[in-house]
Amino acid sequence: MFFLPLFHRLQGRSCLIIGGGATALRKLRWLIRSGAQIQVVAPVIDPEIRRLAEQNNIMLLDRVFEHADIHADLTLVICATDAASISEEAYALSMQHRVLVNCVDRTDLCTVIFPAIVDRFPILVAISSMGQSPTLARTVRGWIEQRLPNALGRLARLAGALRTDVKDALADVDARKAFWEKVFGGPAAELAMQEKMAEAVAMTRAQLADETPTGSLVLLGAGPGDPELITLKGLRALQSADVILYDKLANPALLEYARRDAELIDVGKIGPREAIFATPSGDQSEALQKPRESGTTMQARINAKLVDLARGGKQVVRLKGGDAFIFGRGGEELLVAQEAGIAVEIIPGITAGMGASSYFGIPLTHRDLSQSVRFVTGHRLSDSVYTDWPEMAKPHQTLVIYMGLVTLPTLTRELIKAGRDGATPAVLIENATLPAQRAVYGVLADLAARVEAAQITGPSIVIVGEVVSISTGYVTAVTVEKAVPGEA
Ligand SMILES: C[S@@+](CC[C@H](N)C(=O)[O-])C[C@H]1O[C@@H](n2cnc3c(N)ncnc32)[C@H](O)[C@@H]1O
Repeated sequence: MFFLPLFHRLQGRSCLIIGGGATALRKLRWLIRSGAQIQVVAPVIDPEIRRLAEQNNIMLLDRVFEHADIHADLTLVICATDAASISEEAYALSMQHRVLVNCVDRTDLCTVIFPAIVDRFPILVAISSMGQSPTLARTVRGWIEQRLPNALGRLARLAGALRTDVKDALADVDARKAFWEKVFGGPAAELAMQEKMAEAVAMTRAQLADETPTGSLVLLGAGPGDPELITLKGLRALQSADVILYDKLANPALLEYARRDAELIDVGKIGPREAIFATPSGDQSEALQKPRESGTTMQARINAKLVDLARGGKQVVRLKGGDAFIFGRGGEELLVAQEAGIAVEIIPGITAGMGASSYFGIPLTHRDLSQSVRFVTGHRLSDSVYTDWPEMAKPHQTLVIYMGLVTLPTLTRELIKAGRDGATPAVLIENATLPAQRAVYGVLADLAARVEAAQITGPSIVIVGEVVSISTGYVTAVTVEKAVPGEA
C-alpha cells in the first residue's frame, strides 16, 4: 500500500475522534495543534482528554458511537478503539460520505495514515512505513531527531522573515535556492539558532545585497535608418540585453538581433506631422485630434521605466534613432540613471544629419566651402528668443537642421533676413539611409516651396550650405534646371 505524504490543512474543519483512551489522546493533541473543530465520542473518556476539551472548546459525547455521528460535513474521522467492528463501521460510513478516515492499527481501514513526526515547528518531518512497521518508523524518527538541531525552527523563521525580500531581489529560482543554501550553511544560520534573530536578519540582508544582480543601462544609438549602420559594439549590446526599449525612429529590423527571451518595449513618440502614419486611415486630422501625452510626461514615464528595470537587475538597452545625444533626450536618461546609481554605458550611433549627408554625397565640411557645421533643431527655430539668427546666417558654415520640416518656411525666411544669401544651396532629405529616402534640392530662397510641392511627410533633415552643391543630385536638380529654364 502506498500513501503519498501530504500536509493537510485542518484549521476550522470538523473532525471526529471515536474513542477516549490513550491512543485517542495522542491523536487529539495533533488535531488541537491543527486548529480543527473536534468532537470526541466514547462511553469512557480519559480525564486528560476532558481537561483538553475544556481548554480547547472540544465537544465530548459521553456515549457509544452512533452511525449518525459520521456525516458528509466532517473532514476526518479517527477511530481509536480496539473494537474491530466499530472500526469497520466507521470506515464504511466514512467511505459512504467521502470523509477521510484513519482507523488506528488498521491500515486496511485507512484513507489517511499518521506518520511519525519530528517536530521542529515550522519544520515537520513526517516518516512512514506505509503501515508495515510503525515501530521502525518511530526508530527512524529517533535517528532523525538526534541529527536535527532543536533550534531548527528558528532557522525556518529567519527564512520566513526574509522570503519576500529574497524573492523580490533574486528573480531566478535557482539563484534563490543557491542563496538560501549559502545562508543555512553560514554564520547567519548560527546566529538565528542562538536566538539572535535581529543579527541573523541583518547579516542575511547584507548577504542578499551582495548577491543582488545589478542592472545596467546602455544608451544605444541605432543609426539613422539603415540597420547596417549600427556599430559592432551596439550589436553586441542588443544581443545580450534583457530588455530593449526602442524608439519609433530605430529601425525595427534591429530587434531581430535581440535574444528570444528579451522583452521588447515600444516607447516610440509621435510628432505632430508624423502622426499621419500612426492612424489606420492615414487621416492627419484624426491623428492630430487624438489627445496626446506631452513629450515631458512621456519622457518622465520612460525615465522611470528605465530605472525600474535596471534596479530590478535587468540589462537594459535604450535603443534610440541616430545618436542618443543628438536631439535624442539621451542626456536626460543618463542623468536620471546616474542619480539612481545605475551603471550607464553610452554607445554612439550615426546621427541622422551625418547619415543623410553621406548617403547623398554631401561633405558637411569642405575646404574653401565650409569650415564648421552646426547641428540645430528646427523645433524652436521660429522662436527668435532662442535663435541667434545673425550667427546662423554667417557664410562658409553648414547648417544641419533636425525637425525642421514644419518650420521650414520660417527658418529659410529668417536666415535670408539675417544675411544668408538666398542662393545658398540647400536640401531636405527625407527618410535618409532607408530605401524610401529622397532629397528635395533647392536654394535657401526656394527650398520651402519645393518641399511643399513634394508633399514630404517622413522624418527629414535640412542641410543649408555651399557644400550641398557638391552633391550630384544638386547639380542635376538645381544647376541643370537653372541652365535649361522650364525643364526640371
Ligand atoms: C528627435 S530627433 C532624433 C535625432 C536622432 N537622435 C539622431 O541623432 O538622428 C528626430 C529627428 O531626427 C531627424 N531624423 C531622424 N531620422 C531621420 C532620417 N532617417 N532621415 C531624415 N531625418 C531623420 C528628423 O529631423 C527627425 O524629426
